[in-house]
Amino acid sequence: MKPSVTLAKTTLSGGSTLSLCRRDGHYFLRVAGLELMGTVAANSEMRLAELACEKLGTGNNQRVLIGGLGFGFTLRRVLELVRPNVSVQVVELLPEVVAWNRAYLQSVNGGLVDDPRVEIRIDDVLAVLARATVRQYDAVLFDIDNGPAAIVVAANARLYAAPALTALSRALRVGGRAVFWSASTDRAFLKRLTRAGFHATAVGAKAYAHAKRNTHTLFVADWPGG
Ligand SMILES: C[S@@+](CC[C@H](N)C(=O)[O-])C[C@H]1O[C@@H](n2cnc3c(N)ncnc32)[C@H](O)[C@@H]1O
Repeated sequence: MKPSVTLAKTTLSGGSTLSLCRRDGHYFLRVAGLELMGTVAANSEMRLAELACEKLGTGNNQRVLIGGLGFGFTLRRVLELVRPNVSVQVVELLPEVVAWNRAYLQSVNGGLVDDPRVEIRIDDVLAVLARATVRQYDAVLFDIDNGPAAIVVAANARLYAAPALTALSRALRVGGRAVFWSASTDRAFLKRLTRAGFHATAVGAKAYAHAKRNTHTLFVADWPGG
Protein backbone atom coordinates (compact mmCIF):
# COMPACT_ATOMS: atom_id res chain seq x y z
CA MET A 1 0.00 0.00 0.00
CA LYS A 2 1.32 3.43 -0.96
CA PRO A 3 1.71 6.07 1.76
CA SER A 4 -1.14 8.50 2.28
CA VAL A 5 -0.66 12.10 1.08
CA THR A 6 -2.36 14.94 2.97
CA LEU A 7 -3.84 17.39 0.45
CA ALA A 8 -5.41 19.89 2.85
CA LYS A 9 -6.23 20.28 6.52
CA THR A 10 -8.08 22.60 8.86
CA THR A 11 -8.82 22.91 12.57
CA LEU A 12 -12.48 22.39 13.48
CA SER A 13 -14.24 24.57 16.06
CA GLY A 14 -13.83 21.81 18.71
CA GLY A 15 -10.05 21.82 18.17
CA SER A 16 -9.61 18.56 16.24
CA THR A 17 -7.97 18.42 12.81
CA LEU A 18 -9.98 17.63 9.69
CA SER A 19 -7.83 16.52 6.77
CA LEU A 20 -8.30 15.41 3.17
CA CYS A 21 -5.90 12.63 2.16
CA ARG A 22 -5.23 10.58 -0.98
CA ARG A 23 -4.02 6.99 -0.99
CA ASP A 24 -3.91 4.49 -3.84
CA GLY A 25 -6.08 6.75 -6.01
CA HIS A 26 -8.80 7.12 -3.34
CA TYR A 27 -9.65 10.12 -1.18
CA PHE A 28 -10.38 10.10 2.55
CA LEU A 29 -11.62 12.60 5.12
CA ARG A 30 -10.01 12.18 8.52
CA VAL A 31 -10.93 13.77 11.83
CA ALA A 32 -8.26 13.61 14.51
CA GLY A 33 -6.51 10.92 12.42
CA LEU A 34 -9.61 8.68 12.23
CA GLU A 35 -11.06 7.91 8.82
CA LEU A 36 -14.51 9.48 8.62
CA MET A 37 -15.27 8.51 5.05
CA GLY A 38 -13.63 7.61 1.75
CA THR A 39 -14.30 7.34 -1.96
CA VAL A 40 -13.61 3.58 -1.90
CA ALA A 41 -17.24 2.57 -1.25
CA ALA A 42 -20.26 4.67 -2.18
CA ASN A 43 -22.96 2.14 -2.97
CA SER A 44 -25.21 2.88 0.01
CA GLU A 45 -24.78 6.66 -0.47
CA MET A 46 -26.12 6.26 -4.01
CA ARG A 47 -28.86 3.88 -2.88
CA LEU A 48 -29.95 6.64 -0.48
CA ALA A 49 -30.56 8.85 -3.52
CA GLU A 50 -32.40 6.14 -5.44
CA LEU A 51 -34.84 5.47 -2.60
CA ALA A 52 -35.45 9.18 -2.04
CA CYS A 53 -36.13 9.87 -5.73
CA GLU A 54 -38.45 6.87 -6.19
CA LYS A 55 -41.52 8.86 -5.15
CA LEU A 56 -40.72 12.13 -6.90
CA GLY A 57 -42.99 11.54 -9.89
CA THR A 58 -42.98 13.85 -12.88
CA GLY A 59 -44.18 17.17 -11.43
CA ASN A 60 -42.45 20.46 -12.22
CA ASN A 61 -40.40 22.62 -9.84
CA GLN A 62 -39.57 19.83 -7.45
CA ARG A 63 -37.34 20.65 -4.51
CA VAL A 64 -34.90 18.25 -2.96
CA LEU A 65 -32.86 18.85 0.19
CA ILE A 66 -29.63 16.92 0.86
CA GLY A 67 -28.02 17.16 4.28
CA GLY A 68 -24.25 16.56 4.03
CA LEU A 69 -22.15 16.94 0.84
CA GLY A 70 -19.21 14.67 1.73
CA PHE A 71 -17.74 13.38 -1.54
CA GLY A 72 -20.95 14.13 -3.47
CA PHE A 73 -22.00 10.57 -4.44
CA THR A 74 -25.55 11.07 -3.16
CA LEU A 75 -25.74 14.40 -4.97
CA ARG A 76 -24.52 12.82 -8.21
CA ARG A 77 -27.11 10.04 -8.10
CA VAL A 78 -29.91 12.52 -7.32
CA LEU A 79 -28.93 14.64 -10.32
CA GLU A 80 -28.89 11.53 -12.52
CA LEU A 81 -32.43 10.62 -11.45
CA VAL A 82 -34.38 13.87 -11.29
CA ARG A 83 -36.00 15.97 -13.99
CA PRO A 84 -33.89 18.82 -15.41
CA ASN A 85 -35.97 21.56 -13.76
CA VAL A 86 -35.54 20.25 -10.23
CA SER A 87 -33.81 22.37 -7.61
CA VAL A 88 -31.42 20.58 -5.29
CA GLN A 89 -30.30 22.28 -2.11
CA VAL A 90 -27.22 20.78 -0.46
CA VAL A 91 -26.56 21.85 3.11
CA GLU A 92 -23.00 21.25 4.31
CA LEU A 93 -21.75 22.23 7.75
CA LEU A 94 -18.08 22.60 6.86
CA PRO A 95 -17.03 25.18 4.26
CA GLU A 96 -13.76 23.27 3.78
CA VAL A 97 -15.64 20.22 2.47
CA VAL A 98 -17.18 22.38 -0.27
CA ALA A 99 -13.88 24.14 -1.04
CA TRP A 100 -11.98 20.82 -1.19
CA ASN A 101 -14.59 19.36 -3.56
CA ARG A 102 -13.90 22.28 -5.91
CA ALA A 103 -10.13 22.28 -5.52
CA TYR A 104 -9.15 18.59 -5.26
CA LEU A 105 -12.16 16.44 -6.11
CA GLN A 106 -13.10 17.41 -9.66
CA SER A 107 -12.28 13.83 -10.70
CA VAL A 108 -14.73 12.50 -8.07
CA ASN A 109 -17.90 14.67 -8.01
CA GLY A 110 -16.46 18.11 -7.26
CA GLY A 111 -17.80 19.75 -10.43
CA LEU A 112 -21.38 19.17 -9.26
CA VAL A 113 -21.23 21.86 -6.58
CA ASP A 114 -21.34 24.39 -9.45
CA ASP A 115 -24.13 22.63 -11.38
CA PRO A 116 -26.90 25.18 -12.13
CA ARG A 117 -29.51 22.89 -10.53
CA VAL A 118 -27.59 22.86 -7.26
CA GLU A 119 -27.60 25.41 -4.45
CA ILE A 120 -24.91 24.85 -1.85
CA ARG A 121 -25.52 26.28 1.61
CA ILE A 122 -22.98 26.28 4.40
CA ASP A 123 -25.15 25.62 7.43
CA ASP A 124 -26.38 23.02 9.88
CA VAL A 125 -29.10 21.04 8.11
CA LEU A 126 -31.09 20.96 11.36
CA ALA A 127 -31.24 24.75 11.35
CA VAL A 128 -32.31 24.74 7.68
CA LEU A 129 -35.03 22.21 8.50
CA ALA A 130 -36.27 24.31 11.42
CA ARG A 131 -36.53 27.38 9.15
CA ALA A 132 -38.16 25.55 6.23
CA THR A 133 -41.56 26.70 5.08
CA VAL A 134 -44.48 24.28 5.32
CA ARG A 135 -44.44 21.67 2.48
CA GLN A 136 -41.22 23.14 1.02
CA TYR A 137 -39.56 19.89 -0.08
CA ASP A 138 -40.57 16.91 -2.19
CA ALA A 139 -37.71 14.78 -0.88
CA VAL A 140 -35.20 15.15 1.93
CA LEU A 141 -32.01 13.10 2.25
CA PHE A 142 -29.82 12.95 5.34
CA ASP A 143 -26.27 11.63 5.44
CA ILE A 144 -24.63 13.74 8.14
CA ASP A 145 -23.58 11.16 10.69
CA ASN A 146 -23.46 7.42 11.28
CA GLY A 147 -27.11 7.20 12.32
CA PRO A 148 -29.11 7.20 15.56
CA ALA A 149 -27.29 4.20 17.07
CA ALA A 150 -23.73 5.32 16.24
CA ILE A 151 -23.53 9.11 16.50
CA VAL A 152 -20.07 10.58 15.82
CA VAL A 153 -20.81 14.29 16.39
CA ALA A 154 -22.95 14.64 19.53
CA ALA A 155 -24.89 17.65 18.19
CA ASN A 156 -26.16 15.55 15.28
CA ALA A 157 -28.17 13.32 17.66
CA ARG A 158 -30.87 16.02 17.46
CA LEU A 159 -31.64 14.92 13.89
CA TYR A 160 -33.10 11.63 15.11
CA ALA A 161 -35.17 13.10 17.97
CA ALA A 162 -38.87 14.00 18.01
CA PRO A 163 -38.59 17.81 17.47
CA ALA A 164 -36.56 17.37 14.25
CA LEU A 165 -39.00 14.73 13.01
CA THR A 166 -41.88 17.15 13.60
CA ALA A 167 -39.98 19.86 11.67
CA LEU A 168 -39.37 17.32 8.88
CA SER A 169 -43.06 16.39 8.71
CA ARG A 170 -43.93 20.09 8.24
CA ALA A 171 -41.23 20.64 5.62
CA LEU A 172 -42.20 17.64 3.44
CA ARG A 173 -45.01 17.88 0.94
CA VAL A 174 -47.97 15.52 1.31
CA GLY A 175 -46.76 12.19 -0.09
CA GLY A 176 -43.13 13.30 0.21
CA ARG A 177 -40.28 11.09 1.35
CA ALA A 178 -37.27 11.44 3.61
CA VAL A 179 -34.42 8.93 3.79
CA PHE A 180 -31.73 8.71 6.49
CA TRP A 181 -28.39 6.96 5.93
CA SER A 182 -27.29 4.92 8.95
CA ALA A 183 -24.44 2.56 9.79
CA SER A 184 -26.86 0.23 11.57
CA THR A 185 -30.54 -0.33 12.21
CA ASP A 186 -32.37 1.06 15.24
CA ARG A 187 -35.83 -0.05 16.33
CA ALA A 188 -36.35 2.90 18.65
CA PHE A 189 -35.76 5.33 15.76
CA LEU A 190 -38.27 3.47 13.58
CA LYS A 191 -40.78 3.79 16.41
CA ARG A 192 -40.10 7.51 16.74
CA LEU A 193 -40.66 7.98 13.02
CA THR A 194 -43.97 6.13 13.25
CA ARG A 195 -44.99 8.14 16.31
CA ALA A 196 -44.25 11.34 14.36
CA GLY A 197 -46.78 10.21 11.73
CA PHE A 198 -44.48 8.73 9.04
CA HIS A 199 -44.85 5.37 7.31
CA ALA A 200 -41.36 4.14 8.12
CA THR A 201 -39.26 1.17 7.03
CA ALA A 202 -35.63 0.18 7.45
CA VAL A 203 -33.96 -1.02 4.22
CA GLY A 204 -30.60 -2.81 4.16
CA ALA A 205 -27.90 -1.42 1.85
CA LYS A 206 -24.55 -2.79 0.64
CA ALA A 207 -21.39 -0.77 1.10
CA TYR A 208 -20.03 -2.09 -2.23
CA ALA A 209 -22.14 -3.00 -5.27
CA HIS A 210 -20.82 -6.59 -5.20
CA ALA A 211 -20.86 -7.06 -1.43
CA LYS A 212 -22.53 -10.27 -0.27
CA ARG A 213 -24.49 -8.69 2.56
CA ASN A 214 -26.06 -5.44 3.63
CA THR A 215 -23.95 -3.59 6.16
CA HIS A 216 -25.76 -0.26 6.25
CA THR A 217 -29.37 0.78 6.86
CA LEU A 218 -31.49 3.37 5.08
CA PHE A 219 -34.50 4.56 7.05
CA VAL A 220 -37.26 5.46 4.60
CA ALA A 221 -39.91 7.81 6.03
CA ASP A 222 -42.97 8.58 3.89
CA TRP A 223 -45.27 11.43 4.84
CA PRO A 224 -48.74 10.04 4.17
CA GLY A 225 -51.11 11.19 1.42
CA GLY A 226 -50.55 12.42 -2.10
C1 LIG B 1 -20.77 10.92 5.39
S1 LIG B 1 -20.62 12.49 4.68
C2 LIG B 1 -21.81 12.50 3.41
C3 LIG B 1 -21.46 11.58 2.30
C4 LIG B 1 -22.26 11.84 1.04
N1 LIG B 1 -23.58 11.25 1.14
C5 LIG B 1 -21.56 11.31 -0.18
O1 LIG B 1 -22.23 10.77 -1.05
O2 LIG B 1 -20.33 11.45 -0.30
C6 LIG B 1 -21.28 13.51 5.89
C7 LIG B 1 -21.22 14.98 5.55
O3 LIG B 1 -22.13 15.68 6.39
C8 LIG B 1 -21.54 16.88 6.86
N2 LIG B 1 -22.24 17.25 8.11
C9 LIG B 1 -22.05 16.76 9.36
N3 LIG B 1 -22.93 17.29 10.22
C10 LIG B 1 -23.72 18.14 9.49
C11 LIG B 1 -24.84 18.96 9.80
N4 LIG B 1 -25.32 19.02 11.05
N5 LIG B 1 -25.40 19.71 8.82
C12 LIG B 1 -24.91 19.65 7.55
N6 LIG B 1 -23.85 18.87 7.19
C13 LIG B 1 -23.28 18.10 8.14
C14 LIG B 1 -20.07 16.47 7.03
O4 LIG B 1 -19.23 17.61 7.08
C15 LIG B 1 -19.84 15.60 5.80
O5 LIG B 1 -19.47 16.37 4.68
